[in-house]
Amino acid sequence: MPDEPFRTIIEPFRIHSVEPMRLTTREQRAAALAATGYNLFEVRAEDVLIDLLTDSGTGAMSAEQWAGIQRGNEAYAGAPSFYRFRDAVTSLFPFRHILPAHQGRAAEHILFTAAGGPGLVIPNNTHFDTTRANVEVSGAQAVDLPIPEGLHPAQRHPFKGNMDVAALGRLLASQADAVPLVMLTVTNNSGGGQPVSMANIRAVREVCNRYGKPLFLDACRFAENAWFIRTREAGYADVPVADIVREMAGLADGMTMSAKKDPLANIGGWLGLNDDSLAERCRNLEILTEGFPTYGGLAGRDLEAIAQGLRECTDHDYLSYRVRSVAYLGEALEAAGVPCVVPFGGHAVFIDARGMLPHIDPLQYPGQALACALYAEGGVRSCEIGTVMFGLHPDGTESPAALDLVRLAIPRRTYTQSHMDYVIEVVARVASRAAELPGMRIVSQPRQLRHFTARFAPLR
Ligand code: F0G
Repeated sequence: MPDEPFRTIIEPFRIHSVEPMRLTTREQRAAALAATGYNLFEVRAEDVLIDLLTDSGTGAMSAEQWAGIQRGNEAYAGAPSFYRFRDAVTSLFPFRHILPAHQGRAAEHILFTAAGGPGLVIPNNTHFDTTRANVEVSGAQAVDLPIPEGLHPAQRHPFKGNMDVAALGRLLASQADAVPLVMLTVTNNSGGGQPVSMANIRAVREVCNRYGKPLFLDACRFAENAWFIRTREAGYADVPVADIVREMAGLADGMTMSAKKDPLANIGGWLGLNDDSLAERCRNLEILTEGFPTYGGLAGRDLEAIAQGLRECTDHDYLSYRVRSVAYLGEALEAAGVPCVVPFGGHAVFIDARGMLPHIDPLQYPGQALACALYAEGGVRSCEIGTVMFGLHPDGTESPAALDLVRLAIPRRTYTQSHMDYVIEVVARVASRAAELPGMRIVSQPRQLRHFTARFAPLR
């Protein structure tokens, strides 16, 4: 008899140590929201039951990663932990220079301090918030060039994270001198955790070649992206994920990385690049702000955890479970009539809050209203990715973001299927009385990255 695949995709690991979760009452959650100005970043994690705020640094490490932590060598310069880290990184991303950093945004800050600046323009399929902020802090302009399908939550496309290559061509044709580098975010987090195809990376590379521009990957979720290439792009079904990753890297000249995502570490990141003179400038900046280039703001033990995590995150059983379990949540929400970004991405399910709450104007923050309602209902913490996050511009003006989404980001190897079943119930309950949810107004806000600290109030 042929080996029939099982319908149930199990977590390909068992629980090694446990962390208790605290149940709260509806009254306690209402009080927490009022006390924090309806900003979920200000809510204490102990007051959250299922924490889907982010998949960043929140995954469960493996026994081998904890073993690596014991092996960590803390020499200031030239620690063996650094070389194990560098070898693990270059086995997937063979760039000439690998500069460790304490997390992705530190790598971004170094890169754009060295390569950004006033009058310059950085194109990306879609900048993540910290990437955009680091580009803008340098004085440069961050331009998003997603394909049109990427802006329509309900429109299906296997590689909705792709860059609009024609738009990139037009940008470079009109202002090539202003563009120091082109960036591609894999997967496209802000666009819904959507993958970028190898064909698109290759097409972007060709445009870059035409204008002599380097291509950088913001590669936080490279393994999930590679899994989508393997399962959706013609010609890759039999290619091991690690080879797909090397092919992606081979089309680029450098990368920024947060090891808190696919590499399964709780902290860390790096900047990878081939250009010797840019690397020299970046290394000097790194020493100024992160540390000596063989530890870059990390402990040796952190470098070990990343090295081991990089080996684990390209495992096919893990990736199959990972992508399937995210789709499990998404399919159940879709079945419950909740409008979601489809197809489902690699690390999160994105609810279309603007579609779910059409009675709330984008400048009354439907995403923020929904995220607060999910917390109030069942202690589920999610994250607004919409007008609160992207609507405030450097000149102080405000406009609606392209989309108002609420992201349910799934920490890696952390929650079980019954946790997800609970989340499904919470979202469905909120959806059943969506028309009653009030919009929000901003009571106070900083000028940059306002979503972290702004305070809100419900409109009625
Ligand atoms: N690029 C992308 C695509 C990201 O998703 C993130 C972080 C970063 C860069 C910055 O990395 O946090 O290590 O400094 N995203 C997290 C999130 C915070 O919740 O999506 P970092």
